[in-house]
Parts: sequence; C-alpha cells; structure tokens
Amino acid sequence: MSAQTKQPFAWHGTLERNVIILGVCAFIAVLFGGIVEIAPLFWIQNTIEKVKGVRPYTPLEQAGRDIYVREGCYLCHSQMIRPFRDEVERYGHYSLAAESMYDHPFQWGSERTGPDLARVGGKYSDAWHVQHLMAPRSVVPESIMPNYSFLAKKDLAIGDRSAQLKSLFLTGVPYTKTDITRANDDLKAQAGMGDTGDLATRYPKASIRDFDGNPKRLTEMDALVAYLQVLGTMVDVDSAAAQEHLAREKGR
Ligand code: HEC
Repeated sequence: MSAQTKQPFAWHGTLERNVIILGVCAFIAVLFGGIVEIAPLFWIQNTIEKVKGVRPYTPLEQAGRDIYVREGCYLCHSQMIRPFRDEVERYGHYSLAAESMYDHPFQWGSERTGPDLARVGGKYSDAWHVQHLMAPRSVVPESIMPNYSFLAKKDLAIGDRSAQLKSLFLTGVPYTKTDITRANDDLKAQAGMGDTGDLATRYPKASIRDFDGNPKRLTEMDALVAYLQVLGTMVDVDSAAAQEHLAREKGR
C-alpha cells in the first residue's frame, strides 16, 4: 500500500461513526425538507380550485354513499379518471379535484376489477342499475360482480340524518341550517315520499324520483342508485374546462 494520503472528506467519518451527531444532523435535514413541503400549505388560500356546479351530496345520495362504502364497492371500482387518452375516451372527461372535495373520505380507490365509476351518473337508467345490482350476470353475462339483491329488500335505516350532515359540516362541507334541519324530510322527499319543499333549489340538479322501481318502500337500493346517478354529473365539465382554458389565457 502507498503512504497514507489525507482523505478529502475525513470529517465525514466522524459524522458516520457518532450516532448522536448523525441523529441530530439527520433530524435537521428532515426538518428542513418538511418545512419546505408543508409550510406553504398554511399560507396559500386553498389547494383546490372551486368549480361551478359542485355541491354537497343530498342526504339520500349521502346514504347511498355510505352503502357503497359499507359494501366495499371501492375494492373493485375506482372513482378517478386520469388525464390519459385511453381513460378519457373510455370514461369521459378526467376527474377534477373539486369533484371530490366534499367526499369524506374520497372514493378514488386503488383497484379496477370493474370499470371506473366517477362519471357513471346518467349513463344507464335506474332500472338498469337495479337489475344490474340485483343480478349483474343478467345484463352483463361475463360479469364477476357479486349480486346485491338484498339491497332491494332492506328498508333504508333513516336514523338521524341531521346529525350526519352536521358532522360533515364540521369537516368543512357547506351544508346550510335548512339542509341540516330538513335532512330527514329531504331524504324521504328525494325518493318521492313526501313534500320536496325547496330541495331542488338547495341541491341543484338533484334527481327527485323513486329509484328502485318500488314507490311504496324506501330501500337501500333507492339510496345506492340515487348516489350512482349523481356521480360525475354535477359539473358541466366541458364548460369548466373552457373556463379553465380562458383563465389561463388571461393570465398569460
Ligand atoms: C368483485 C368486484 C366487484 C365488486 C365488489 C363490485 N363490482 Fe361493480 N363491477 C364489477 C365488474 C367486473 C363490472 C363490469 C361487468 C359488469 O358490468 O357487471 C362491474 C360493473 C359495475 C357497474 C357498471 C359500470 C359501467 O360503466 O358499465 C356499476 C354501476 C357497478 N359495477 C356498481 C357497483 C356497486 C355499486 C358495487 C357495490 C355495491 C359494486 N359494483 C361492487 C366488479 C365489482
């Protein structure tokens, strides 16, 4: 071996061999990275651009969403159309962040055993959804989706929907006082059972009808179909995309 020459980063050896110095320096490095990433979020106005048309779910749609989560539909279905050509051609306009801003928690999912559902609203009739949920293979012979026929037999447990909207309000969903006090009435009215009052004004574009084909009962099927039919329909995506484009042009 040749005679020892002084290594240029010899001091680094001390840093690597002393656990306390290494710990303190690693902590400072991570702290710095954290501050750079997280701190700006406290100062910018919002992280999600507001988009016209996005509104909180009606109590019935929210009830349907609870069933969607309870039944684990998200394990096979995503609700997030990515901005890639193949996805946009198959499912429609890519998802906007604002479209899931009132979803707690969001249902983007991570697995697509079945198709994406972010824009399934209005794609099929209510009757199709009911038939498909009762027995998927009766409409799509090669389907591997489970049967959910029990949903049509089970009365929807209404409970205290005001409390539910109130808790969502606390997480930032802008329900009004009327929305909260009228929650149980709104839920029944949207399914065609009772006085709708100003439901359609408070929840623009809400579909008000019997969803499960059985007007005498309010079932879990009513709620789930009401939820599926609203997915992706709140925003007029083409005009929202045009607005975005104009705003960008102006900013130039
Ligand atoms: C085991 C996986 C699996 C689960 C769980 C599942 N699905 Fe599906 N789903 C599929 C598959 C596969 C398809 C495509 C074939 C078909 O249409 O049945 C599908 C299709 C659909 C479609 C039609 C979509 C379209 O654009 O044609 C809807 C709506 C749907 N599922 C809703 C639901 C709901 C609501 C639930 C929960 C109650 C659910 N699925 C649970 C696998 C699943």
